[in-house]
Amino acid sequence: MRTDLLVLNGSPAPDGQSMFLALKTIEAAGLEAEVIHLSILRIESCTACMECARGGRCPLDARDDMAATRERLHAARGLVVASPLHFTSLTAPLIATFSRLEPEWLAFAAAGFAKPSPEFRNGAGMLVVTGGGDYRAMFEPARRVAAAVFNTLGLLNLGSVEAGHTSRTPVAANTLALKRASAAGRSLRAALSPARRCL
Ligand SMILES: Cc1cc2nc3c(=O)[nH]c(=O)nc-3n(C[C@H](O)[C@H](O)[C@H](O)COP(=O)(O)O)c2cc1C
Repeated sequence: MRTDLLVLNGSPAPDGQSMFLALKTIEAAGLEAEVIHLSILRIESCTACMECARGGRCPLDARDDMAATRERLHAARGLVVASPLHFTSLTAPLIATFSRLEPEWLAFAAAGFAKPSPEFRNGAGMLVVTGGGDYRAMFEPARRVAAAVFNTLGLLNLGSVEAGHTSRTPVAANTLALKRASAAGRSLRAALSPARRCL
């Protein structure tokens, strides 16, 4: 079953700052969304056994929740990665999940690292990220990880919605971040509109 939007929530809070901002973005997109809260799943990090590089299946898929998550990732036309900053980057459950995309990365490499073009696309990805602090380039590490994931999955990178200093100003009171979420939701909707789907 294909979904319009899949939200991967990397926060331990199902209703925290990051999900609040993600839900505002989805609301503005007006699309159906399925949310996966990674903190309640068990997904181990890649062990670099390289079975996938030998053409085999990931051995870990048989014993944790990655097989089902992988299936949902492939079924989604739009992917929203929602995360707080934890030690400057995306949270551990997201990093563990993305480490398991090695088979997808190998396919991407075999295809010559082809960039998704706006004319011919599989879908689009967006990062929604919050941080308690307020410092220079604070979202850069998270942006870089998300860009690598979207490229690997063949998704057009639509950028990010970011809210800093959540320790002082909750997202709900951050009017600039909320405005950005609305604009981002509209661009997500435009990118995934049926007229622009890849045939
Ligand atoms: C373990 C941990 C590490 C954190 N590291 C950072 C950080 O590196 N930079 C930052 O700005 N905020 C950091 N924070 C604050 C969170 O990013 C911030 O509170 C966020 O808005 C929480 O979002 P959530 O409610 O969706 O979990 C950290 C919080 C925790 C619990």
